[in-house]
Amino acid sequence: MQIEERIAALKRERNAIILAHNYQIPAVQDIADFVGDSLELARRATATAAEMIIFCGVDFMAETAAILNPEKVVILPDLCSICPMAQQLLNEELRSVQRMHPEAETVLYVNTRAESKTLADCICTSANAPKIVRAMDSEEVIFGPDRNLGYYAQKGSGKKLVIVPEHGNCPSHHQISLEELEAAKKAHPTATIVVHPEVTPEIQERADYVASTGGMVRLVREIKDKELLIGTEIGILHRLKKEAPNKAYYPISTNAVCPQMKMITLPKILRSLEQEKPRIDLPPEIMERARRPIERMLILSP
Ligand code: 13P
Ligand code: SF4
Repeated sequence: MQIEERIAALKRERNAIILAHNYQIPAVQDIADFVGDSLELARRATATAAEMIIFCGVDFMAETAAILNPEKVVILPDLCSICPMAQQLLNEELRSVQRMHPEAETVLYVNTRAESKTLADCICTSANAPKIVRAMDSEEVIFGPDRNLGYYAQKGSGKKLVIVPEHGNCPSHHQISLEELEAAKKAHPTATIVVHPEVTPEIQERADYVASTGGMVRLVREIKDKELLIGTEIGILHRLKKEAPNKAYYPISTNAVCPQMKMITLPKILRSLEQEKPRIDLPPEIMERARRPIERMLILSP
């Protein structure tokens, strides 16, 4: 039996669902029950009758699914699939900024550790950051850890943001350079530029559209433009080609690769289903306290 068939058979046996992020390798995206961005995956995790979620993404995404579904078994097929940006926010630093700005509410990017989320008033994703920041009661908002997403959220909300840590960023997106953008534009002068809000403000300002990975999928389905320059992790290209195959997609940077997103493979998924591990295992009190700001986000951004 092919590995895909063995995965499908075991998935039925275990009453499991496979969720995958848009940056996963093509083979994983192709066997998943649902592929999406962080917000879509969080929502999908709450809308399944399956008893087990095999989460093909990075740690904070699987943790979010587990926090929203304490009664389900949530498995991350490789526990080393850890988002480096989520590690950049230190709780002590955040607490100290919160002490200095007692009136400000705290919005944290979903790309944070569960423990950090316990200190947030609300969570956001790249799909709803300006909307969530705008919905906060305070005029000043503490925001972390991605300063590039912070720029996008500040611009879109009109609020004053205090970014913590000051230089937080996603290494895969932050390294996409103006030189690469200029070279890509020269090679494809009529192409439409679509970038993720984790790229630098300089790149955001030169783009035609700034969108989450799910937003990019919806955009390419809708627009008539035939050539697109894509500024995000290159795993999205497989998804875009599947969703709108009649267009040409060019990555602005072929170096925009998230190694942690590539750690999940079909053999690891099969082994996870066979052994029913490795599971996301968070202390119940952390789950309880981290759930509140995530649920607030889902209410503000249904
Ligand atoms: P999206 O929510 O847009 O898929 O982004 C997730 C992410 O980790 C981007 O680097
Ligand atoms: Fe984290 Fe960046 Fe990888 Fe997204 S692409 S999971 S933000 S390191």
